[in-house]
Amino acid sequence: MNSEVRSLYIASQWRATSEVDTIVSPWDGTSVGHLYRGAVQEMEDAIAAAYAAREPFRALTDAVRGGALDKIHAGLVARAEEIAVTIAREAGKPIRDARGEVGRAVHTFQIAAEEARRFGQGEQIPLDRIESSQGRIGITRRFPSGVVGAITPFNFPLNLVAHKVAPALAVGAPVVLKPAHQTPLTALLLAEVIAEAGLPVGAFNVIHTEPALGERLALDPRVAVLSFTGSARIGWELKAKANRKRVTLELGGNAATIVHEDADLEMVVPKCVASAFAYAGQVCISTQRLLVHRPIFDAFTQRFVALSRDLRLGDPLDETADLGPVITEAGGVRILECVREALDGGARLLLGDIAPADPRRIAPIILTDTNTEMKAEREEIFGPVVTLTPYDDFEEALDRANDSDYGLQTGVFTNDIHRIYRAFDRLEVGGVIANDTPSYRVDHMPYGGVKGSGFGREGVRYAMEEMSELRLLALNLS
Ligand code: SIN
Repeated sequence: MNSEVRSLYIASQWRATSEVDTIVSPWDGTSVGHLYRGAVQEMEDAIAAAYAAREPFRALTDAVRGGALDKIHAGLVARAEEIAVTIAREAGKPIRDARGEVGRAVHTFQIAAEEARRFGQGEQIPLDRIESSQGRIGITRRFPSGVVGAITPFNFPLNLVAHKVAPALAVGAPVVLKPAHQTPLTALLLAEVIAEAGLPVGAFNVIHTEPALGERLALDPRVAVLSFTGSARIGWELKAKANRKRVTLELGGNAATIVHEDADLEMVVPKCVASAFAYAGQVCISTQRLLVHRPIFDAFTQRFVALSRDLRLGDPLDETADLGPVITEAGGVRILECVREALDGGARLLLGDIAPADPRRIAPIILTDTNTEMKAEREEIFGPVVTLTPYDDFEEALDRANDSDYGLQTGVFTNDIHRIYRAFDRLEVGGVIANDTPSYRVDHMPYGGVKGSGFGREGVRYAMEEMSELRLLALNLS
């Protein structure tokens, strides 16, 4: 990558500062690119620009905002491979998965363009149902809530940014984006695309800065909506301090997948392998806990271990790599400590090397005989580690899946519609995924968690609701 220093995007201008950061590849430590680091002044300027953009932005028609989103969609299509390579390098995501992420972001902006054109549609409420209200009708429509402060994680540096920026632009809410400090280069490529979309000055701002300044963005009174994806600890802390602000939190998980005896193992096992180990498990909806019906436990385990052993850990730019590194050395050390704690407590290792030469390069680890008190089950591992547990009764599997501080999505493999409905009724999660893993997500579906996993929903239309307010006009025509 070249030695150009990339600028921040504030008030529709490219901005240099006095501090330069170098982003390095988590795979081999080589430089991926350089960019300016913003500080308090740049954060202040970005928020002020967004605040000033509220009126001009919300005054645009739905069709104009839809047209701007069409341009962003087309810009992403045109630069898809360049963006995918940047994701692969700065996030350590295998290039095939990075291309998949770009494809999803293209879709996210396409949906947002469609939804923007429908945003102004409201409802007519017959207020005259009540005798004393004769001659009155009500009309509702939604209005943007104000500036959106978006804080995004490293693991989907494009599409989880898209999930905040696209709905905000669709409703006419200006955005200040603080991308993860490990993966800001992708966000700046997106900014280059958005800069060509013809939005009002200040409608979109990106500031790369130290993590601590995220709190300043989140809590600034001019920021009406905080949309945060990241760690549960930080997310809930920000929400506690956010006072009357609207807050959406997309946090962690330790997702379970339940495999019942009537499931088709040919179909199920490869899906479970991908769900546990894709992007080295650094996905909030990775399968971390596999619960398998005892009659098929041995057959499932044999196939699952064999397929997982075949996965290739390699350079994210290598087309054949199935998984790459974890994002930091400290993250790798933490993951391996959780595994050691489980083994010390009596768990068994079915696959994996718990003392790799480089703690960022962790090949798939499969544990069994774990219990719900061990970190490998209880905490969010965010690494290539899965636990395998047999169950005798479907209700027992539902209880074990629910025995978690988190509740994002659960996968349930069974061909019995009664069991699927039972799971839908009982599982404490934001999404029950029948005959697929919890990793299933398409970008227009409602997505979010209960318990420690979050607050509010994303998925373009649902995020648009989080970023706008319903207003009623009560008309007296009598
Ligand atoms: C996440 O890890 O939070 C998002 C997963 C996805 O969008 O597939």
